[in-house]
Amino acid sequence: MNFQLSEEQQAVRQAARDFAQNILLPGVIERDAQQKFPRELIRQMGELGFLGMMVNPVWNGGGMDTVSYVLAMEEISKVDASASVMMSVNNSLVCWGLEKYGTAEQKEKYLKRVAAGEIIGAFCLSEPEAGSDATSQRTTAEDRGDHYLLNGTKNWITNGGTAGIYLVMAQTHPEKKHKGINCLIVERDLPGFVVGKKEDKMGIRGSDTHSLMFTDVKVPKANRLGEDGFGFSFAMQVLNGGRIGIAAQALGIASGAFELALRYARERKAFGKLLAEHQAIQFKLAAMATKIDAARLLILQAASLKDQQLPFVKEAAQAKLFASTIAQEVTTEAVQIHGGYGYVKEFHVERLMRDAKITQIYEGTSEIQHMVIARELMK
Ligand code: CAA
Repeated sequence: MNFQLSEEQQAVRQAARDFAQNILLPGVIERDAQQKFPRELIRQMGELGFLGMMVNPVWNGGGMDTVSYVLAMEEISKVDASASVMMSVNNSLVCWGLEKYGTAEQKEKYLKRVAAGEIIGAFCLSEPEAGSDATSQRTTAEDRGDHYLLNGTKNWITNGGTAGIYLVMAQTHPEKKHKGINCLIVERDLPGFVVGKKEDKMGIRGSDTHSLMFTDVKVPKANRLGEDGFGFSFAMQVLNGGRIGIAAQALGIASGAFELALRYARERKAFGKLLAEHQAIQFKLAAMATKIDAARLLILQAASLKDQQLPFVKEAAQAKLFASTIAQEVTTEAVQIHGGYGYVKEFHVERLMRDAKITQIYEGTSEIQHMVIARELMK
């Protein structure tokens, strides 16, 4: 497989690198400590086109391919995984879902604004009792003729406090099980919709994760995505693509930590020579670099299959499974190479190690990725 990048793809990567290094890097430690990602930075990401990268320019998007998107995700995640999860949910779940399955009216009304970063979107599938077991949706969307009456609670919703629109999965026909679920576009200011507490998380602490409560929220029927009962299938299709974005996030966290560890090993002396001159450290760096390159190839393979409109479900799950696993390993080794310095908050590797963990959990845990891969193999 030849992954020669085009000039355009290289330019996108460079633009993301510049933004990450010049704009996101200063202040990233404070944002992690204070658990916030300022709206001003979201606005800048929108202006630079990072929030609707793959959307057709007709709908205010960048018209780029998935390969360009993962290159940008990697660069931004090297520095700030809180920024990149917001970017990933907006691009791969919300924008892609609206573009692929929305009506022309829904695209005009919502997609144009989320693709431009004027508002951001959230994807609401997980519930207190439905995480990995996502078919067990307890949130209900009762059919009331011209609208749905939405009741229930969603948990751990990325962009939960800042989003302008929410794609909410809810059960309309419980007797049909997952085939009775709908996806509704819910505007933030609808009566009965309450944003709950912000989660105090181990990592990606700058990102905005909330529970959401819906009590008799009237959602117009025009806001349903796809046919009646398409909601679960919608969520699965969208997550297949989303997993490529999270894989790229995991890769960025790993490669960011690796670059810091390599630099540190070339500067720090122990026992009269540089760390990088000790074989124990060289072998660690060699293993880290190899894992990172392997993850990158899996991700580029999945992204390129998606761009070619070829089946990519297995490859996306493999990329996410592998990249999130090595992100844990590589960031742990990066902290190890830094020794005591790696354990304190002024050193970025400490944050990157905490950020890595979530990539094994959201958009399908590693256990779910094994399940998806195995099911594809059995087909
Ligand atoms: N792609 C397309 N369709 C899929 C699919 C996939 N990867 N996996 C399952 N489906 C379809 C099945 O074909 C089936 O549809 P039909 O009946 O029409 O054939 C339907 O989904 C239900 O599948 P199963 O009967 O196999 O149900 P199951 O309960 O055994 O398995 C599951 C379902 C795969 C475990 C699913 O619940 C799942 O993916 N869980 C993980 C949920 C998840 O990823 N959550 C992430 C939350 S969002 C998030 O994290 C965003 C963020 O903040 C960053």
